[in-house]
Amino acid sequence: MANSATLLDMPELSVVELTKQYPTRGEPLVVLRGVNLQLGAGENLAILGPSGSGKSTLLHILGTLEQPTSGSVRLAGHDPFALDERQQARFRNEQVGFVFQDHHLLPQCSVLENVLVPLLALGGRVTAEQLDRAKELLEKVGLTQRLDHRPAELSGGERQRVGIARALVRRPTLVLADEPTGNLDRKSAAEVADLLLAVHEHFRTILIVVTHSNELAARLSRRMELNDGVLVPIA
Ligand SMILES: Nc1ncnc2c1ncn2[C@@H]1O[C@H](COP(=O)(O)OP(=O)(O)O)[C@@H](O)[C@H]1O
Ligand SMILES: [Mg+2]
Repeated sequence: MANSATLLDMPELSVVELTKQYPTRGEPLVVLRGVNLQLGAGENLAILGPSGSGKSTLLHILGTLEQPTSGSVRLAGHDPFALDERQQARFRNEQVGFVFQDHHLLPQCSVLENVLVPLLALGGRVTAEQLDRAKELLEKVGLTQRLDHRPAELSGGERQRVGIARALVRRPTLVLADEPTGNLDRKSAAEVADLLLAVHEHFRTILIVVTHSNELAARLSRRMELNDGVLVPIA
C-alpha cells in the first residue's frame, strides 16, 4: 500500500534519464543524454548553458510541446506523455505557463484579452473569478492602467510583463521562462525579473528560467548548467 508520507514527499516535477535526439541524414543529433531533475512545489531553478546546448529543447519537453526520445517526466502526479493528444493539450493548458523571449502576444488583442487567451484556448468561457484573477495579475505586474492597450503600444518590458500575467492566469503548477529578459535593456530586464520572481513566490508555482544573465540566475535558489546533454549543479 502506498505510504502517504512518501506521496506527500514526492516532488511536483520529476525528470528521470530524459533523452532527446533529432534525426539527421547521418548520425542522429543527440541533444539531451540523460537529464535528471527534481523540484518541489514552489521551488525555482535557473538553467544556464551555451547556445545550442539544448536548453529550449528541455523546456519544450517539460512543457509537453515536444516528445522526449526516452526517459520520464512526472508533473503534478501525472505522466503527461502517457496522455492522448487532447488530454495532453488540456494538461499543458492547465498545468504549464510559458514565458518566451519574444513575448508571443496577439497584436490585434488588448492587454487584458491577451492574458485571457489561455482561458479561451480550449473553447472555455471566462468566469467572473477568472476575470478577476487576470486583472489581479495585471495589477501585480503594474499594468492596471493599460488593460485596453494593444501590444504595439507597450514597451518591450511591458510586453514581457503581459506575458508573465498570461503565463500565470491558469494557476499552473509549472512556469517555464526561456530567456525572458534576453531582448530587454538592463533596467527593463531587472523589472521583469523582479515581477517574475514576485508572482512566482506569490502563487507558489515551480519556476524554471533559462537565462544567459548571471544577474538573473543569481536571484534564483538553484542554478544548473546544461552541458554535453546533462544537467549539472553550479556551485
Ligand atoms: N526541431 C529540431 N530539429 C532538429 N534539430 C533541432 C531542433 N530543435 C533544436 N535542434 C537542435 O538541437 C540543438 C539544441 O537546440 P536548443 O534546444 O534550441 O538549444 P539552446 O536553447 O540551448 O540554444 C541545436 O543544435 C539545434 O540546432
Ligand atoms: Mg534556446
